[in-house]
This record gives sequence, structure tokens and C-alpha cells, in this order.
Amino acid sequence: MTVSAPNDITPKIPRHIAIIMDGNGRWARERGWPRLKGHEQGSSRVQDICEGCIDAGVDYLTLYAFSTENWCRPKHEIAGLMLLLERFLAEKVAEMNRNGVKLATIGRIADLPDAVRKRLERAVEETSHNDRLVLTLALNYGSRDEIVEAARSLAASVQSGEIMTDEITKELFSSRLSTGGMPDPDLLIRTSGEMRLSNFLLWQLSYTEIHVTQKLWPDFGRQDLRDAIADFSSRDRRYGAAVENGSISLPA
Ligand code: FPP
Repeated sequence: MTVSAPNDITPKIPRHIAIIMDGNGRWARERGWPRLKGHEQGSSRVQDICEGCIDAGVDYLTLYAFSTENWCRPKHEIAGLMLLLERFLAEKVAEMNRNGVKLATIGRIADLPDAVRKRLERAVEETSHNDRLVLTLALNYGSRDEIVEAARSLAASVQSGEIMTDEITKELFSSRLSTGGMPDPDLLIRTSGEMRLSNFLLWQLSYTEIHVTQKLWPDFGRQDLRDAIADFSSRDRRYGAAVENGSISLPA
């Protein structure tokens, strides 16, 4: 099969941006402040970046807000992060409704503290009618856990006779992940210069363009988002295929 390049296959604007918000601790340390100050400033960046995504025409924004590994942090830091999340949800739902932001979550929400879980459920419900941007918060999220869950769910479907083993396809597998129904991210942004995926969306990032910036998350602003999108637009996305005479050949 041959398709034209770059227009058919290279969107100028990423439809889905995923962000690993890193560097809050370092931002605070540079100022001699407690780490939570960095998380607080980091949390205040979220609305601005949502608005930047809407302005740019991005449809999905997925933020890595709390990983399954983050439970290993000191108790007071975890409690502080949960409070920030609660505060964010309490204060920002009205703004989300004004901006047309629909909130979603991935990760084991059931294991979060009750107060946070309830606020999340309410915010998801209260923003469910919006359709300009889907903001997904990855909370208590770990990609390997998610993949194992999807494998379990498919195994159960085979066991019950609902499907045959050879009916398991990449598409069916994707649909059993917590991101089922969402397009894979086109662009992954990681702040603070780290070159790691940190157990984030391992399946979904297979063909994603990666933009790493030295900026720490609390300093990441709209211009940095525009720079990341411009970097993405300049990339030649080939999905492993070759470009010949302006066309990309993909296996039939
Ligand atoms: C990584 O910085 C950041 C986190 C583990 C948490 C991200 C959370 C927020 C931005 C605030 C709450 C989120 C929302 C959506 C309201 P780090 O602490 O690992 O930084 P370091 O590597 O410099 O120590």
C-alpha cells in the first residue's frame, strides 16, 4: 500500500499530547523551598497548558500526575500531592466548563484516598458534556499494570468463549487498555531533561514523537508548548516505513 507523504500521515498539529511533568522538586530546591512548593507551582501550570492546547487545536491532553511508583515518596509529600489534586479539582471545574474541557482519568482511581476519588468522580461527571479538549489525568497509573490488566481481560474473554485466541489483534488489545477509544499520543513532552518513559503509556507511545525540554515543569509555559508543537510539526513521521517520491509505502 502506498500513501502520500507528508500530508496524509503527518498532522501539523498533534491531536493528542501526553506530558511527563517533571522537575517540580528541583525547581523548589533551586529556591531553597520544600518540594511541595514545586508541586504547588506545577499544579498551577495545568490550566495554562490546557488553554494552550485548546488554542493550538489539540483534542487530547494526558498528564502523568501520580505514578504507582510515587507511593514510595515520603508520606507528607504524598499527602501534599493529594491535597493539591483535591484543591485543583475543587477550584478548576468551573474553568474547565467555561473552556470546554472534559476531564477523564486513567490508573487505579479506586485506591486513591476517598476524598480525592469522590472529587474526581464528581469532576468527571460535571465536565462530561464538554467537547473541546479531553484532559486525562494519569493517577496511581503504571503502564505495566495496565498492560497486565488488558491481558487478564482478554484471557477472561477467551476463557468464557466470548472470543477465540486468534481474534486477539492489536486493535482489540488497545481497546482493553484504560485509554481504549482514545487515539495514541502523537507527541510526548517530558520536562526537566530526563530521557525516560518512567512506565508511562508504554504501548500507546510506540510511534509517538518525543520532545524533551530542559525547562522544569513549574516553568513550562505556553511558549514552551508552542515550541514543542513546532518541533513536532518539523518531524518526518514515517511509522517505520520509507519515503519514496513523496509517498510512504506501508505493508498491505
Ligand atoms: C515530578 O516532579 C512530578 C510529580 C511526581 C507530580 C506531578 C504533580 C503535579 C504537577 C501537581 C498536581 C497535579 C495536578 C494535575 C493538579 P518531581 O517531584 O519528581 O521533580 P524532581 O525530579 O525535580 O524531584
